[in-house]
Amino acid sequence: MIVLGVESSCDETGLAVYDTDVGLRAHAVHSQVGMHAEYGGVVPELASRDHIRRVIPLTRQVLRMAGLELADLDAVAYTQGPGLAGALLVGAGYACALAAALEIPALGVHHLEGHLLSPLLAQPRPDFPFIALLVSGGHTQLMRVDGVGRYALLGETVDDAAGEAFDKTAQLLGLDYPGGPALARLAEAGEDGRFRLPRPMLHSGDLDFSFSGLKTAVLTLTKKEGEEARADIAAGFQAAVVDVLAGKCLAALAQTGLRRLVIAGGVGANRALRARLDAEAARAGFSVFHPPLELCTDNGAMIAYAGAMRLGGRTSADGRFAVRPRWDLASLEPA
Ligand code: KG4
Ligand code: ZN
Repeated sequence: MIVLGVESSCDETGLAVYDTDVGLRAHAVHSQVGMHAEYGGVVPELASRDHIRRVIPLTRQVLRMAGLELADLDAVAYTQGPGLAGALLVGAGYACALAAALEIPALGVHHLEGHLLSPLLAQPRPDFPFIALLVSGGHTQLMRVDGVGRYALLGETVDDAAGEAFDKTAQLLGLDYPGGPALARLAEAGEDGRFRLPRPMLHSGDLDFSFSGLKTAVLTLTKKEGEEARADIAAGFQAAVVDVLAGKCLAALAQTGLRRLVIAGGVGANRALRARLDAEAARAGFSVFHPPLELCTDNGAMIAYAGAMRLGGRTSADGRFAVRPRWDLASLEPA
């Protein structure tokens, strides 16, 4: 079965072709980062309009890359939520219209399910069950994953998401949008032992997170230490976040007795986090799976894949057209 994936929940237009016989055949992403940069954040109306401009050329591009034509598609999967309503409507409207014209099913996919399953697109593939750390701009969750649609929430952030903490802290340090990757680069130039920031909830005894207090710590330090200390403060911040994320992953593995850890979502691109988890895995004898960087951030491949798994070879879907800007991952039914 050949599935076209359409991602448009935020500021990336992602298209991909997934083939259940041979795997991922092509994927392409257009990032709107440059367009939103001058406003310091995503402008929803501009995001929607840009998705409209990109989605057809990107479809042609991935079909060309895969050596396929529209008539070869068996289904279209699109991000139904959560995300920006207008941006979601572009992808949903396009996917449903294309599917109707081709007389094939269209299927709405949960964006976070896409992130959760994205490591299965890479080699080596983790077997079920595994622990997934989902760390994106909007979410920080630890899930137990027993199969497609079989997700149990173990813990989550009580305030800011990890990516949001990176982005807001970057802003405090005067870095340009999007802050997360810029902050990570600045941190690499700094010394992480100079300032020891708090490790919120590291020893709270549960698997929840809290990151909003770190902003205050960074603000106080920047006022006190000035411009010259920026890289060291960034390094101190990153070390604190990495410590907490790694600590909670270890606790989740211990609590469930599982030996496989999967990292998904944009913050999974963070090099310090990757290095730390690899070191912990080598020390404690569990396996850690990182999707390649291009599959960590928003993309159409994860949507095509999740759609293919959900369809499971079915050639019809309910065809209802709806987007769900707010949508709880734990409410999904098994496939
Ligand atoms: O999953 P994603 O692409 O979009 C959603 O939020 O769904 O994640 C984006 C988040 C942003 O907050 C961004 O700052 C963060 O991931 N991010 C990073 C890095 N690359 C992206 N955070 C820390 N270090 C990075 N290298
Ligand atoms: Zn995402």
